[in-house]
Amino acid sequence: MPDTSEPVSAAKTKLSPADLRTRKGATPIVCLTAYATPMARIIDPVADLILVGDSLGMVVYGFETTVPVTLEMMLRHGEAVVRGAKHACVILDLPFGTYQESPRQAFRSAARALAEAGVAGVKIEGGETMAETVRFLVERGVPVLGHIGLQPQSANTMGGFRAQGRSEQDQARILADARAVAAAGAFALVVEGVTESLARAVTDAVEIPTIGIGASSHCDGQILVTDDVIGLFTDFKPRFVKRYAELAPQIARAVEAYADDVRSRRFPAPEHTYGAGKK
Ligand code: KIV
Repeated sequence: MPDTSEPVSAAKTKLSPADLRTRKGATPIVCLTAYATPMARIIDPVADLILVGDSLGMVVYGFETTVPVTLEMMLRHGEAVVRGAKHACVILDLPFGTYQESPRQAFRSAARALAEAGVAGVKIEGGETMAETVRFLVERGVPVLGHIGLQPQSANTMGGFRAQGRSEQDQARILADARAVAAAGAFALVVEGVTESLARAVTDAVEIPTIGIGASSHCDGQILVTDDVIGLFTDFKPRFVKRYAELAPQIARAVEAYADDVRSRRFPAPEHTYGAGKK
């Protein structure tokens, strides 16, 4: 008798950036973030792409922006996520200051991501100005996920975390960004915080899949920060986030119950206690 106890996901093959590239206009690509092995294991059966996002700076480390995140932090979280992902394609964000200086700097950072963390590719923020870097990486064997529109690493020069593409000039710039990054060889493109009409125009303009975040349904896939989806990160909730669970209050209730039990000596009970002659 075949063993039918295996979860369906275990039978699935590992997805590569090239597999995702072929999903343009097909079934929407499901993307989520993870920063550690347990979360990667939970979302791996349903996600096509797991992003080790530099959002971990805000979500895990409590920074106000993603700017202070280092490559060392990303590599350690990256390798933890890779250990938990059997099926999804794992991509790692290159953090601020580790790729903008030159294509060579970007290659050194990306090579560490692939070799040390074992991820399948890297994500870099930027449009036309980063196209040369995208080409340099792809020609040297590094799959690149682009990221245009709202770019959190540039919040200091973009005037904060604001939706992009409201003026005609901005729309033309973002469309040019999308075309440049796609032409440079990116396998897919994250489009963040743009109006619905611009998202549609970008998706129509490029031959690679677009992955939206705050970019309407006119994209070839969607990504959200998992901690937003499950209500674990509660500092703020962007308009584009849909919560599917409220874990923060559940955790608060669980630890309150534990604290009550400890203070009233209800925990540990006999079943949690080792005694002579007991196993
Ligand atoms: O850092 C991140 O998590 C991202 C997103 C696109 C979710 O860049």
